Amino acid sequence: MEKRRYKIAVIGGDGTGPEVVREGVKCLKACMERFEFKLDFEEFDWGGERYLKTGETIPPGGIEELKQFDAIYLGAIGHPDVKPGILEKGILLAIRFELDQYINLRPVKLYPGVWTPIKDKGPEEIDFVVVRENTEGLYCGAGGFLRKNTPDEVAIQTSVNTRKGVERCIRFAFEYTRKRNKHRRLTLCGKTNVLTYAFDLWERVFHEVGERDYPDITRDYAHVDATCMWMVKNPEWFDVIVTDNMFGDIITDLGAMIQGGMGIAAGGNINPEGVSMFEPIGGSAPKYTGKNMINPLAAICAGQMMLEYLGETDAARTLEKAVMKVTKEKLKSLSAGQMGYTTTEVGDMVARFVGEV
Ligand code: IPM
Ligand code: MN
Repeated sequence: MEKRRYKIAVIGGDGTGPEVVREGVKCLKACMERFEFKLDFEEFDWGGERYLKTGETIPPGGIEELKQFDAIYLGAIGHPDVKPGILEKGILLAIRFELDQYINLRPVKLYPGVWTPIKDKGPEEIDFVVVRENTEGLYCGAGGFLRKNTPDEVAIQTSVNTRKGVERCIRFAFEYTRKRNKHRRLTLCGKTNVLTYAFDLWERVFHEVGERDYPDITRDYAHVDATCMWMVKNPEWFDVIVTDNMFGDIITDLGAMIQGGMGIAAGGNINPEGVSMFEPIGGSAPKYTGKNMINPLAAICAGQMMLEYLGETDAARTLEKAVMKVTKEKLKSLSAGQMGYTTTEVGDMVARFVGEV
């Protein structure tokens, strides 16, 4: 039988990015052994080291090149010797924006055996998904300075919310909630009591679209501050949360903590009609670089999301089971240096279990 083939662009990036992505690739290759598909990996050296040598973030034609791939697998972006913002905007956000990856999908799922700081809550209670808008809001770079470096300086940063951008995000969230088929409840997370323009639009679109096209999905609303409170107090109330770029950024770090930390949290930057990118959501963790101490599970879980998105559902499910076996039976902790295993050993175990579970 002819195998299904996918071209994957691999951007290891900075700090511990390349070492966690290496373990992810190892596990994806283990999936190829067992299932009927093949991934062709091609590596890109974009990141801080390259920038320091050449002054380039993404080389000319780089984005066009990415468009030839079925998906992108990213490690981490951020280098201690490069001023904050240059690599983040020049690489990570540039890819998200230019490939129009308008959804940032971030599951918050507590795996068996993983410690959560939330008392009396377990895998039953902590299992929801955040749909974060990924191309607009405060991230779009609208704004500027007036009278910079004077006592009368003004700095303005504008949140841009377009009807089109808001609607496509909300529609994706409704579709996702329906497909997930858990509680069939979608929560809009906003700040309608203060941000009375931006979230007025979000709220109107949310109810319009929901009422007309998704009557089977329960609509719910929570302010962003209250969302943070409920995520800690009653995480089981959430099924799918939809929110804007900035709020989504903030609440998904909180989400990562309640699911066991940055060692396990993964996300997908999705363009349902184009090329999507999958990444562990923690940073480049420079102090652990090259020490073989960092937890690769977040990168492995990002690989799992990539398989799911490519339509390799059986492989995705198997990889998730393998990860759960490792969290349940093997790791002492998810924190770097406290796992009881090295980075490569964790990757080896998951890859082995892919063939066994
Ligand atoms: C994330 C990160 C990025 C963001 C940074 C690195 C630009 O925090 O993916 O959540 O704010 O989106
Ligand atoms: Mn973030």
